[in-house]
Amino acid sequence: MTQNSIEQLRGDLLAAISAAGDSSALEEVRVSALGKKGRITALMKDLGAMDPEARKAFGQQVNALKAEVGSALESRKQAFEAAALNARLTTETMDVTLPVRPETEGSLHPISQTMDEIAAIFGVMGFEVAEGPDVEDDFHNFTALNFPPGHPAREMHDTFFLQDADDGERYLLRTHTSPVQIRTMMNAKAPIRIIAPGRTYRCDYDMTHTPMFHQVEGLIIDTESHMGHLKGCLAEFVRTYFGVDNLPVRFRPSFFPFTEPSAEMDIGCSRQGGELKLGDYGDWLEILGCGMVHPNVLKACGLDPDVYQGFAFGMGIERIAMLKYGIPDLRTFFESDLRWLRHYGFSALDVPSVTGGLNR
Ligand code: PHE
Repeated sequence: MTQNSIEQLRGDLLAAISAAGDSSALEEVRVSALGKKGRITALMKDLGAMDPEARKAFGQQVNALKAEVGSALESRKQAFEAAALNARLTTETMDVTLPVRPETEGSLHPISQTMDEIAAIFGVMGFEVAEGPDVEDDFHNFTALNFPPGHPAREMHDTFFLQDADDGERYLLRTHTSPVQIRTMMNAKAPIRIIAPGRTYRCDYDMTHTPMFHQVEGLIIDTESHMGHLKGCLAEFVRTYFGVDNLPVRFRPSFFPFTEPSAEMDIGCSRQGGELKLGDYGDWLEILGCGMVHPNVLKACGLDPDVYQGFAFGMGIERIAMLKYGIPDLRTFFESDLRWLRHYGFSALDVPSVTGGLNR
């Protein structure tokens, strides 16, 4: 093989590479040059029969040729790939505004949706979400909340007790979310501003009671928050949650062992024609319990009631979900009926926020 014929071969192969019209033609050129029986491969085989001097010089030429042809093949291949991608990008169009297909299966339960909405509203007011266990002890569920032993209010709660534990403690399923107040005050430093949504349990079952239901607790502890702040905060909440700007609110004196004074909050409504409507219609509907945190509760948590004060509230999540979304029967929340879930469920992609999408 002479210098000339290497030049000739180089010319042939580079011409064939640029003449290749598509990637399969290019692949044929590659095989004809570098494949097992390819022309450059054949030159490599010739090397073996040459004397060392000649082999060295010729070997360098063949290697250079191999590298040049290799990179010419590679850049042509990339050009084909880029062209193919461009062709796809111009022909295949996609409407990104179309809904997801197939339709997403499953939806958010109204309880989850309502909890998200509550957290969105109180989040804007600077509350953080806190949690506590469903299985509680007597101290957190009752004693620290100023229910003295034997106090009749304990009986009001129809508590589910667990079997006596080895440690002598009688555990129970929490009857309200208020024990999260205790856990938070014992573990966090004032100022405290939390909501605590979660499951609660009472031994009760009829049209308006299920043994498991949900509450959300709210707690503010600092050195100055008072009843006026409580009223403003809760009025703002119900107006935003129900999307009724002029929704009237009213506070009636009430009793809870862990707040003093205690109140129940009502919102304005109409029951005319058997239909419930929220707004300024002269009738009232009870919506939640609230009050100033009792000094005994502060003391039980190691806080000085001469320094610290604050307010708390608690409301049923099913109840406000039923009112907002027109769900007539509480028990249906927990029947897992797919038709009900599809009807009342929410898209997981619609994240509630105060600035958008809170009220459908
Ligand atoms: N824990 C009370 C209940 O379950 C509600 C409540 C919470 C009342 C906080 C006042 C303050 O009925």
